[in-house]
Amino acid sequence: MNPFKYGRVVSADDFCPRPALLKQLTGFIRSGQNVEIQGERRMGKTSLIYESVRQMKRLRMLYVDMLEIKTADDLCKRMVKALISMEQQAGFLERVLKSVSQLRPVVSVDPVTGQPSVSLDAAVRMRPDSIDGLLDLIHSVHKKTPLVVVFDEFQDILNLPDAKATLSILRSRIQFHKDMAYIFAGSVRNQMSEIFTDPESAFFKSAVSVDVGPLDTDAFARFLADKFTLGKRSVDSGLMKRVVEIAESVPGDVQELCGALWETTSYKDAMREANIGAALELIYARESKGYESVLVQLTGQQLKCLAGLARMGGKAPQSSAFVHGIGLTLPASVKKALNRLVQLKIIYRHQGEYKFVNPFLKSWLIWKNY
Ligand SMILES: Nc1ncnc2c1ncn2[C@@H]1O[C@H](COP(=O)(O)OP(=O)(O)O)[C@@H](O)[C@H]1O
Ligand SMILES: [Mg+2]
Repeated sequence: MNPFKYGRVVSADDFCPRPALLKQLTGFIRSGQNVEIQGERRMGKTSLIYESVRQMKRLRMLYVDMLEIKTADDLCKRMVKALISMEQQAGFLERVLKSVSQLRPVVSVDPVTGQPSVSLDAAVRMRPDSIDGLLDLIHSVHKKTPLVVVFDEFQDILNLPDAKATLSILRSRIQFHKDMAYIFAGSVRNQMSEIFTDPESAFFKSAVSVDVGPLDTDAFARFLADKFTLGKRSVDSGLMKRVVEIAESVPGDVQELCGALWETTSYKDAMREANIGAALELIYARESKGYESVLVQLTGQQLKCLAGLARMGGKAPQSSAFVHGIGLTLPASVKKALNRLVQLKIIYRHQGEYKFVNPFLKSWLIWKNY
């Protein structure tokens, strides 16, 4: 079986230890300190949270995924569903169903996966002020059996038409729950900053900030090499480092590339750099349709700029070497193209450098000689 996992939460043996971050986060949770977690997509934020809670034993997690929420009703219903699933697992279903009976919750078990799923009456619309009552309900549950509340992809609260009002309701209630930690994780830095560091925001300075960056390269390389060795494939020492480099240290992408290496090699193979090409080609075969649909929405200048970033890196795209290197004349046109590429979420800017959201799109552009 392929030992490399990506595209989902990893924990326990699949989680490459991050002792410093785990210690920090468990410490904050224990003391009821609210935490804001930032980091790019696939860096391991959600996994870090799950693993911290898992290691804390006897602590439960109320996990609310806010990805793509559009209304306060969505938010409230996701909170209710999360609460019902959590209580059901603990055998406390009855006590929570009574409290939310106006939503006519129906709990059913998927016959295939055995996973419980909850449905609520769509005709009952919840408004931002329902959040108050819900948070108090959650807090009363915490008083009986301790829990930590996690709002993941929290930046999507900014999608709500009444985002400002909703944020201030959340904030004003949360500040009364001093003995319970709230975690707000998000992957869009400028939006998370808008929420937590803008003095105008209700959440201004309301949580300590934890940054989830790449894993330590040596530790991660050893962790990955061990998985190959356990599967009776040998790995030479430089290979894993090269994999981490190609996947730009994004743990989810590193694991995807290792997964592809696994699939393109066999039992007892000795793996070396020469195997990386075939692994990348497997990834391209799966993903190139997606890359192509990204490229068709670009203008000629934007495409030149993107190809230039792939070839020359994103540290100084307004230097004359870069501008001329991609066949343009004005830094201003490059700037405009970069802004559009950021807006389309193809690249992002971090610490002054433009980077590809998907490192494999970058290597594919080079491979295709764009
Ligand atoms: N500590 C870790 N050890 C090994 N792989 C990890 C670790 N953290 C993340 N990953 C890899 O990254 C992928 C995405 O992790 P996830 O926690 O969902 O990231 P995020 O929430 O930041 O988007 C996982 O499926 C896994 O492949
Ligand atoms: Mg996540």
